[in-house]
Amino acid sequence: MGTVLVIDFGSQYTHLIARRIRQLNVYSEVVEATMATPEDLDVDAVILSGGPSSVYDKGAPKNDVLLNALVERNIPTLGICYGMHLLTYSLGGKVTRGNKEYGISQMKISEDPIFKGLEEFQRVWMSHGDSLEKLPEGFRIIATSDRAPAAIRHAQKNIYAFQFHPEVNHTENGLKILDNFLDIYGISRDWNMEDFIDASLEKIKAQVGDEKAVIALSGGVDSSVCATLTAKAIGKNLFAVFVDHGLLRKGERQFVKEKFENMLNLKIVDAKDRFFERLAGVVDPEMKRKIIGNEFIRIFEEEARTIGARYLVQGTIYPDVIESGSTKNADVIKSHHNVGGLPDTLDFTGLIEPLRELYKDEVRVLGDKLGMPEEIVFQHPFPGPGLAVRITGPVNDENIHIVREASAILDEELRGAGIYDSVWQSFAILFEDRVVGVVGDQRKYGRFVGLRVVQSVDAMTANFVKLPWEVLEKVSTRITNELEDVVAVSYFVSHKPPQTIEPC
Ligand code: XMP
Repeated sequence: MGTVLVIDFGSQYTHLIARRIRQLNVYSEVVEATMATPEDLDVDAVILSGGPSSVYDKGAPKNDVLLNALVERNIPTLGICYGMHLLTYSLGGKVTRGNKEYGISQMKISEDPIFKGLEEFQRVWMSHGDSLEKLPEGFRIIATSDRAPAAIRHAQKNIYAFQFHPEVNHTENGLKILDNFLDIYGISRDWNMEDFIDASLEKIKAQVGDEKAVIALSGGVDSSVCATLTAKAIGKNLFAVFVDHGLLRKGERQFVKEKFENMLNLKIVDAKDRFFERLAGVVDPEMKRKIIGNEFIRIFEEEARTIGARYLVQGTIYPDVIESGSTKNADVIKSHHNVGGLPDTLDFTGLIEPLRELYKDEVRVLGDKLGMPEEIVFQHPFPGPGLAVRITGPVNDENIHIVREASAILDEELRGAGIYDSVWQSFAILFEDRVVGVVGDQRKYGRFVGLRVVQSVDAMTANFVKLPWEVLEKVSTRITNELEDVVAVSYFVSHKPPQTIEPC
């Protein structure tokens, strides 16, 4: 089987590289830079990721032994951003601090098989502080941006390096360029989702054996697909626990009950009071996430004890891991509750996370392959901490009611306009700040709701959706009419980055 190893130097996008390679039907996995050894290089190609460091930083991730082995054994190698700097720096090139580029750049390419099928000018995504000033011996420039070399290659050895990021969607032909890289080195395209399912089933069976396991089912895409996959592996020994923390979307509890009660061993736990008590007065979203994550896990422990389950199954996916800063060289963006919220000690023999390496769109392909219904697999993602992270103020009945109803109105109107299914996510946010309104000729210092509707492929980057004005107007009018405390509605018009999808 063709295999590409991605060496992680801490970029937010490292796993996206592996995901793109899998998308091109080649098996790919990630290894953390300082842990990788020459023994790991029994693969068809290696990609060195980007990262937040400069090669001149104290403590910047490096691995000379690995780089030397790569070059000596002439393994097909692609360095991206920091990966390019480190590679060229260690081969005697010169990297300069500064000259930074951030965002979309225009790249002019010259003829090279890596750019096969592409036009002379390409839109690429850049995100770098340092840049390459002098090439090491044997290299030549094959593409340039306004400011610096954008791509280089070695004349004899199997090495390419890019300043831009081919793995992000903002690079218009990024996937094609990676495809060309695999073609140049004749890497066989023999990986697919069925292989992933078979391997996962084997792994889960081996890990759980004849024991019982409990899964945290939220009814969202990830946990539903995870539950279906795990149930396929261990059948009736899987027990699904759905916790109603009082922070769910409108109608969600009923939806989960209807969809799953005949498919899984399902238990619904009423825990609203417990969560609201723990969250009383808390406004910091990270704190809310931690509290909710902790409370969740305590409930599962209690349920598992009753059931006699020794394993906890979670639908954690890769963006949860990376944005929680759980990889060694990356920064914390947000602690997604099923990762960052976990307490230090777990009362389980083992934690099983079969989707940990996957992105949401891959999870959807998996769900589809497992024969799951579309309304589960293609629903909008919803964060585990629920509506608690869709309000900037404290969790209480009033705040949760407003944000739940406002979101339901937005979704209803988007469905009516035929837009809901074509966007990644749509929801309302309730701000704690008040704004002045005028209602029935009287001044009203009222509530303020924000709307966020984004398009994305994998949630790593996202664009706000340019909704028709009439739809926005209708949603706004309905929200201010039907929720009497709300006097203002705004719309987020920022992409990710710099904003994240969830504003809290
Ligand atoms: P951000 O806001 O990080 O969101 O751009 C990326 C995707 O992850 C979802 N999200 C979460 N999911 N727990 C979750 O289970 C969380 O704490 C959390 N925060 C964000 C978000 O809805 C989007 O789809």
